[in-house]
Amino acid sequence: MLDWKTVKSCAPLAVVLLAGCDGEESAPSDPVLVAEGQSLYEEPVPGGNTFSCNTCHAQDDDEGLRRVGHPLGGATSRSTFKNGQLDAFEDAANSCLVEWMKADPWAPDDERWNALRAYVASGSGAEDDIDFQIAQPPGDVSGGDASAGRTLFNASCAQCHGVDGLGTERAIPVGALDLEPSYIARRVRTSGTPASPIYDGLTGGVMPFWSAQRLSDPELLDLVAYLSSNYVEPSDDPGDPQDPTDPQDPTDPEDPADPTDPEDPTDPTGCAATHPKVGQLAQLQNFFHDVGGTAEIIDDCTIEITGFSFDGEGIDVQIYGGFEGMYEDGFSMSENLVRDEPYLGETLRFTLPQGRTLDDVGGVSVWCVPVGADFGSGTFG
Ligand code: HEC
Ligand code: HEC
Repeated sequence: MLDWKTVKSCAPLAVVLLAGCDGEESAPSDPVLVAEGQSLYEEPVPGGNTFSCNTCHAQDDDEGLRRVGHPLGGATSRSTFKNGQLDAFEDAANSCLVEWMKADPWAPDDERWNALRAYVASGSGAEDDIDFQIAQPPGDVSGGDASAGRTLFNASCAQCHGVDGLGTERAIPVGALDLEPSYIARRVRTSGTPASPIYDGLTGGVMPFWSAQRLSDPELLDLVAYLSSNYVEPSDDPGDPQDPTDPQDPTDPEDPADPTDPEDPTDPTGCAATHPKVGQLAQLQNFFHDVGGTAEIIDDCTIEITGFSFDGEGIDVQIYGGFEGMYEDGFSMSENLVRDEPYLGETLRFTLPQGRTLDDVGGVSVWCVPVGADFGSGTFG
């Protein structure tokens, strides 16, 4: 992980993130500029994800909706940003553009700065320097009040996850899940890219972390109680990641393959390579969790992903075959891929389950099974 100070003293890298102007004041009351800035603030950025500045920062006050970042109205007059690590508003905004909005940083002479600054400066009440702290979740996360948690969820998390966690274009559904309490607490406290030069101690994910200043520990416990209310402690065979729909069932009368070793790499199960899709490629597009890689159809029953990346986070995440937008109706080709270490450029091979042919495969998805969410996928062609 890059230490911020290293980056700051390292000029060639620094220009990328730190390219900012010296904060010249733009005419603060030009209403056209302010209106232009407001739409920049409230719309996602072209080339980025579905977040806007407004998803995470209110302009002046939160109006009953608590956002994950502090309000920004008037923040152009703060003297430092991001806990004293950055001196210019533009640098702080660029770090959010890159890290949270997955967009390119804006160049110092980008005209959008004038408008964005004008809009932010038109607010007030958030002019003073702020501190925030990335807190570790408490060791014991039990004892919260689920109904208080639901109210709080709908006044904060709903901005992305939707009322009662039903999901929006900004984030997956989380309400009705049987998530493990300590997992939820860790995701809420330390979500964000671990490679960040600005934030220390993040553990992966697209969702922003909730600092101690934006969410207290008692509030965190209430949220955990709400989101884990369907959680059942695994009792029998907790370590078994076996997919119950595992098709390599030796008792299956329709299974002509050798059940003793269906994945022996030296014997590609006598699989022919006659299907017209053999040799086709699919580039995996990331939606969540840093998914990447290239899938290739090797023969009539084998798909290989090279350069596979995935941050390893989730509950139960498997490779699914199916068709774009319809992986819900697809089928699993792997075990659960969730693990402590991220996947960084690995090669993985998958065998089509019995009863499936390449006719059933338009593409592959890194599929979050309990949520029914596509973390990243690609279509063969
Ligand atoms: C996904 C959430 C997210 C998005 C989107 C986002 N930010 Fe941030 N931003 C944060 C978090 C978290 C911080 C940490 C400090 C805090 O709590 O405000 C932060 C901090 C900042 C700071 C530094 C505040 C300070 O004084 O330390 C500025 C300035 C800022 N953001 C501007 C922007 C602008 C402008 C945009 C849109 C171009 C934007 N942010 C989009 C999450 C986000
Ligand atoms: C700025 C948008 C945003 C906000 C606000 C937000 N989340 Fe998220 N959250 C996401 C996204 C996007 C994901 C999926 C990608 C990821 O894991 O980072 C996610 C994932 C999660 C997960 C993990 C689900 C899983 O199956 O792995 C949990 C738990 C969660 N959020 C809880 C919360 C809670 C609780 C709050 C409010 C305190 C909250 N989120 C607020 C965007 C958001």
